[in-house]
Amino acid sequence: MVFPKLVIQTGIFAYAVSSVTAVDISVSSTGGNATNGHQYGFLHEDINNSGDGGLYAELIRNRAFQISEGFPATLDAWHPINGVELSLKNLSIPLSDVLVTSMNVAASPEQGEVGFFNDGYWGMDVKASRKYSGSFWVKGAYSGQFTASLQSNVSGETFGTANITSQSTAGEWTEHEFELTPSKDAPNSNNSFVLTFDASGVSGGSLDFNLISLFPPTFRGRKNGMRTDIAEALEQFHPTLFRIPGGNMLEGLTNRSWWDWKNTLGPLKNRPGFTGAWGYQQTNGLGLVEYLEFAEDIGMEIVLGVYDGLSLNGDITPESQLQYYIDDALDEIEFIRGPADSKWGSVRAELGHPDPWKLQYVEVGNEDWLSGGWETFKEYRFPNFLSALNEAYPDIQVISSGSYYDGYDIPQPAGGDYHVYAEPDTLVAEFNKFDNITTPHIIGEMAAIHPNGGSGWDGPQQPFPWWGGTIGEAVSLIGYERNQDRIIGAAYAPIIRNMNRWQWAITMIQFTADTVTRSTSWYMWELMAAHTMTETLPATSQFDPLYYVAGRNNQTGGHIFKAAVYNSTDGVDVPVKLAFEGVAPGTSGELTILTGPEDPYGSNDPYTGVNVVKTSKTTIRSDKSGNFQFNLPDLSVAILDTSPATTRRWNRTTRRKT
Ligand code: AHR
Repeated sequence: MVFPKLVIQTGIFAYAVSSVTAVDISVSSTGGNATNGHQYGFLHEDINNSGDGGLYAELIRNRAFQISEGFPATLDAWHPINGVELSLKNLSIPLSDVLVTSMNVAASPEQGEVGFFNDGYWGMDVKASRKYSGSFWVKGAYSGQFTASLQSNVSGETFGTANITSQSTAGEWTEHEFELTPSKDAPNSNNSFVLTFDASGVSGGSLDFNLISLFPPTFRGRKNGMRTDIAEALEQFHPTLFRIPGGNMLEGLTNRSWWDWKNTLGPLKNRPGFTGAWGYQQTNGLGLVEYLEFAEDIGMEIVLGVYDGLSLNGDITPESQLQYYIDDALDEIEFIRGPADSKWGSVRAELGHPDPWKLQYVEVGNEDWLSGGWETFKEYRFPNFLSALNEAYPDIQVISSGSYYDGYDIPQPAGGDYHVYAEPDTLVAEFNKFDNITTPHIIGEMAAIHPNGGSGWDGPQQPFPWWGGTIGEAVSLIGYERNQDRIIGAAYAPIIRNMNRWQWAITMIQFTADTVTRSTSWYMWELMAAHTMTETLPATSQFDPLYYVAGRNNQTGGHIFKAAVYNSTDGVDVPVKLAFEGVAPGTSGELTILTGPEDPYGSNDPYTGVNVVKTSKTTIRSDKSGNFQFNLPDLSVAILDTSPATTRRWNRTTRRKT
């Protein structure tokens, strides 16, 4: 327990000369607290094209020429083939009430094979092993074939083709569906979707197209589902908490453009465009049902955000008009978990989900202390929501979108939400932040984003999660986990970023059309989340530079110790001597240690694909006094788990060992 500090502090990292004795930690077998078992998760909203062009697997960009308050219909991503004229038209017979604009393709008969192509969300990943499912709606008299294909933008090579016999007529919209299996892999993602037809078969000089869609095989084979490689990268860090739908996306830019869940239900042709909050039009394709299915597929507990009358521009709903939004939130909850014969439960059943989903956590609003919303939130918006939700659903944990800001006394029985985007020193300094709170909290958004000394809300962000920041996050996560009887869970945010268009640099995962890069933080969160404690146990409290939490998993029978070392004196290893009361001498445990690159600012750069995180796994045994003894390097994260190897992994959905 001796860390003589002769420290020269440079930036986040300390250099000094020291002699070190072990941190001696005894863990009691009693007096702990039950955890809720879903500590680690993430926030998803469509930022950084993380929804459209990201997690949502649709390959066609601007598939339905949608319109919203913030954006007109455009021909973005669409390009003519063989001299046709592409234009937007609002026909007297639109595809639907909400998809009112379509693309007119004008050609004269002698132009031959004509059409258009779409270059997707900055390319398309084309693989021979995949069956792509496509569809499009067309109106106009055409007798002949449509040809759908995937082609290289570089060489013009065609990788796969489907021929579709036209059913199209002049008087109405007709949907055409097809499947397309490439015969070879494309060498890169610089590819387009191409649709052509024979102009000589068209009467009337043009055809009108709308809702042109192409999906690769999706995660778990869900229709209208998620992109497999991104979903797998998320699933593989074992998240068990899923906060949706934001974030700023929930609030919207104005009180006419908040995320209205009712616009996201049912057939795609009934979903209008959505302005979103991040500077681009969204499709509403990744809707409430898709989120719930994804949560179900991965085994995540939902934290549902409901709009509470505050938007980002400072629009605030007066109390006299608030009931509309309270009713809307009650409808949404009924849709998710009401009986199949209730008004909104029956809509869910009609959409193919007769069984209710689980919903235990509902958060009112997002960051209501911002945008001038705090006073009205405290005065009438939150109290009105809280009493209505408590009355209708007494078992739901209602969460205020704010925490104890300005001395706010969160009304009981509500919980709070704390957000922290910070430098690593701040995350480490907050290790004890929740030790004395009694009100349950989520950490609804957290990440290390600024280098030490470079912070302030508007300060520069690092380009990617970096190892020193990852360790800062680990220390905060350990602090939350020590209080997991009250901390419902922590969510990384924002979670993913399309490297072709993004608004926020620091994300756990970066991707392009055909790559997925796990950041340094992904590896740390994965390790932490892979070892679930069902109970935390009291332990000797001797922190800095070693931060830790101990507990056990009553399903696997194992004892667990999670630790991080941040800025050890002289950068030397920290020896640890650890004993769990009641654990016999000679017990074996798996010790996993993550260390980073020599440069603590090192990152997993998506352009090189090099993983700078090193993982070491060893089996160690407690000595004859029952102590586990090991050294932890500076800037490392470690987990010791004594669960028998066969029971170490347990099923996150059933919360039972597999
Ligand atoms: O995660 C990015 C944004 O940060 C969220 O939308 C918002 O809640 C926060 O300010």
